[in-house]
Amino acid sequence: MDKIIIEGGIPLNGEVTISGAKNAALPTLAACLLTGGWHTLNNIPKLRDISTIKNILSDIGVSFEEYGESLRVNSDNLKDDTAPYNLVRTMRASILVLGPLLSRLGKARISLPGGCAIGARPIDMHLKGLHAMGADIDLEHGYVVAKSSRLHGADIFFDIPTVTGTENLLMAAVKAEGTTILHNAAKEPEVVDLANMLNKMGAQVSGIGTDIITITGVKELDPVEYTIIPDRVEAGTFLVAAAITNGHVRLRGYGDEYIEAVIKKLRDSGIEIEKSGNDIVAKSNGKIKSIDIKTTQYPGFPTDMQAQFMALMCIADGWSMIRETIFENRFMHVSELRRMGADIEINGGQALVRGQDTLFGAQVMATDLRASASLILAGLAAKGRTEISRVYHLDRGYQDLDKKLSLLGSNIWREK
Ligand code: EPU
Repeated sequence: MDKIIIEGGIPLNGEVTISGAKNAALPTLAACLLTGGWHTLNNIPKLRDISTIKNILSDIGVSFEEYGESLRVNSDNLKDDTAPYNLVRTMRASILVLGPLLSRLGKARISLPGGCAIGARPIDMHLKGLHAMGADIDLEHGYVVAKSSRLHGADIFFDIPTVTGTENLLMAAVKAEGTTILHNAAKEPEVVDLANMLNKMGAQVSGIGTDIITITGVKELDPVEYTIIPDRVEAGTFLVAAAITNGHVRLRGYGDEYIEAVIKKLRDSGIEIEKSGNDIVAKSNGKIKSIDIKTTQYPGFPTDMQAQFMALMCIADGWSMIRETIFENRFMHVSELRRMGADIEINGGQALVRGQDTLFGAQVMATDLRASASLILAGLAAKGRTEISRVYHLDRGYQDLDKKLSLLGSNIWREK
């Protein structure tokens, strides 16, 4: 298994290009199940999660042609309706094929995702929504088995906004009979990206980006060419990398879209962030002020940036309160950050971080995707050598993070 080694303490300096968004690419790939013909998806990142969904789609009968960061996708010859356990257990977002398969084939058999490192993460709201649209749903031997001769529109109220739940029901509804209204829907940019792609395919989705989405079912959809938005979590991670290393980093071709909350918090902590043409530039003056954060749904501060911010607060001037409200177990990085000298106390969903003058390199273990990023950031700032094992978590969701950091001047490399 690979590990990443960092000799910390070098300020980052230079320009970096942000890859396509993992969490937008996954549902748009699933959406290609909705209709045959060749779709072209541009800006698809090269990630392990993308390989996983491609494997699931291939098993179902989807074919791919890859041209650099563009992927041509064809679902003319579907031969199966199953997403098997061995793939779903490695990536919960596999559940995204449920809605489109049900819409296209009238049946789907998806292994029920188990709990994961960051929380129990049930899918009850996906299933209730599909049931309200006329699907029969059974649980058989660890699989969700869904059937429907024709889905119909429904008024669906989410108890809490769910990103993949909203995406699944959107995909199920675009060809359903009649109108579906999703109340308390997720407003995340990745949901918006999917809805925009569906409309380009001929769907009738309105209220995109609001918490009430209305979908009027259509009979036919067409294949399309669509370009995925850049990854806001990767962008935010590089801004924190600039801050934590006292560096100066330009995100080439990335404006401030979708990361307003992260930029606001970075500015509050004393980091200079400017727009420069189509780019965004982060510059640190060497001092990090402690600030409090609370994760919430978009446009609030994203849970996917909580671990990275915590690494920054470990060397801030003062106390910082970090509240995680989306997932119940998203503090797995804390015990590893403590091994690097961080002073963090956890009380339920709150972490109290007391900023230190410095962190020290240590051997640490990544526990999930964003925790890996947090440890890398801590390693960039720490005195001495940090060795991060289990970096396969990182490869699920960051394209070439170590290479990109190396191009920005950090002393980082990978070992088998
Ligand atoms: N929830 C339920 N029932 C459901 C669905 C969700 O109780 O049926 C709960 C969850 O347990 C959680 C909350 O609702 O407490 C919100 O979860 P959501 O469904 O929005 O999360 P998700 O769709 O499973 C996506 C991203 C996550 C990101 C969250 C929150 C994808 C593929 N994944 O997950 O991304 O953290 O939204 O923004 O889009 C990551 O990239 O590292 C990652 C974990």
